[in-house]
Amino acid sequence: PEGKLQLVQRHVRAFPDFPKKGILFRDICPILKSPAALTAVIDLFEERVRSRQLQVDLIVGLDARGFLFGPLLAQRLGVGFVLVRKKGKLPGATVSVAYDLEYGTAEAEIQEDAVAPGQKVLIIDDLLATGGTLLAACELMKKQRVDIQGCMVVIELRDLKGADRLKPHNVFSLLQY
Ligand code: PRP
Ligand code: HPA
Repeated sequence: PEGKLQLVQRHVRAFPDFPKKGILFRDICPILKSPAALTAVIDLFEERVRSRQLQVDLIVGLDARGFLFGPLLAQRLGVGFVLVRKKGKLPGATVSVAYDLEYGTAEAEIQEDAVAPGQKVLIIDDLLATGGTLLAACELMKKQRVDIQGCMVVIELRDLKGADRLKPHNVFSLLQY
């Protein structure tokens, strides 16, 4: 029988030269389209949380594709979900930090009251490339004096060495390319 990881892997597609020449874009849309594959992702994330005995008070999800997986994992773990958004989208008092992308630059923002000092968070996104996005999220969490338990992604692009930039934080990934 097919394992959960193989099921997930079968639902990732690669598109050459998107959104720019030279980028091989890994597309997770087929995972969302398949209830079984999406459940497998959340099962595998949950198993990782339990096997590594991560303490999680809150799941933090990154704009935009971290929003697709984060709330499902949060519900599964029985904890809340917090949004890190691109700048200018969140009302009220916010904290922000600038970062570089594999193909551009951006600014990440969180509501000031979203997290409290000492809370234990797990940061979720769909994919780790250069690590700029997750690093920005980690910096936001540090500003708020939150305890980062780790970063969890469906896909890690190993050649770009994002996990090195995120040290000493743990990076958990389901698939590596
Ligand atoms: C992609 C991806 C990650 C990030 C990874 O999002 O979903 O969040 O880039 O790249 P990095 O490790 O080099 O930072 P993108 O910024 O394209 O935004 P989107 O989710 O809104 O499409
Ligand atoms: N796929 C999806 N998102 C990305 C990628 C990719 O290959 N690289 C940077 N963000």
